Amino acid sequence: MGCVQPSKADAPDETAQVSTTSAKPKAAPEVSTSAPRVESPVEEKKVVTVSSSTPAAETAPLSVPVSATPSIAAPTILSTPATMASNAKVYIVYYSTYGHIAKLAEAIKMGVDSVDGVEGHLFQVPETLPEEVLEKMHAPPKPDIPIIDPKKLTEADGLIFGFPTRYGMMAAQFKAFLDATGSLWQTQALAGKPAGIFVATGTQGGGQETTALTAITQLAHHGMIFVPVGYKYGPSLFDVNEVRGGSPYGAGTFAGDGSRQPTKTELGLAEFQGKHIAEVTLKLAAKPAI
Ligand SMILES: Cc1cc2nc3c(=O)[nH]c(=O)nc-3n(C[C@H](O)[C@H](O)[C@H](O)COP(=O)(O)O)c2cc1C
Repeated sequence: MGCVQPSKADAPDETAQVSTTSAKPKAAPEVSTSAPRVESPVEEKKVVTVSSSTPAAETAPLSVPVSATPSIAAPTILSTPATMASNAKVYIVYYSTYGHIAKLAEAIKMGVDSVDGVEGHLFQVPETLPEEVLEKMHAPPKPDIPIIDPKKLTEADGLIFGFPTRYGMMAAQFKAFLDATGSLWQTQALAGKPAGIFVATGTQGGGQETTALTAITQLAHHGMIFVPVGYKYGPSLFDVNEVRGGSPYGAGTFAGDGSRQPTKTELGLAEFQGKHIAEVTLKLAAKPAI
């Protein structure tokens, strides 16, 4: 794994080199199985009656009209969707250059899947850097996880977004993906959906909290409901003797020079985040059986 610190040699200006080339998924991510399970026991899965999401944006134009004050179409997503007996869906959507966020995402999925009536689905957003730039950055091949189209976000009952930091904010790849959600914003198709955030930084003080906090604007404009993790995970969040990523805003890890991998505590918080958001999603999606 290459150096992850920004430098002239291996940290080019990504925003200046945007390409439409998507990275080809090549290899499955190595995910530690030693992550501690979230304390609550995992029961046998039951089917829970939930409301389905309304894909209101599917008929919307693909781009927002260019205007100083764009008009917003009447939101349709706040109407009650049809009731159906199926699992609620939580989409875990991420970008990862060096695999740290990918590992947290796997742990988050375990947490989501531990909740009866909820299923987690992993997605990557498109890469925006050309292959030759990624090679110079020593980026490994992308994991074999599907690349999501923005319109698919409407299918999810809950969303969890993950990205590494770039100068204290989300990586440009994820911002580019969100910039492609104009039609969803126009119809407010994601309004009311619970959403969480998880991050990776190189260093302590490098943006664990600012990266999450500055991303909340994206959720707010879409009308999503930000779901933090708070301190519910437990005592390890109060332990200042262990170097630990993550914050009340969401799970997190430190890459260090790139060789550091997510710790048991960090993976445990990530799993907890998945479980917590799955439970919140279920509460918001659940409808009384008729
Ligand atoms: C252009 C660039 C800018 C970065 N900016 C920061 C930063 O502001 N703070 C920080 O702690 N790490 C920074 N990093 C390190 C990345 O956040 C780190 O490589 C990433 O969290 C690893 O996650 P990943 O393995 O999922 O890609 C930067 C890396 C690059 C390439």
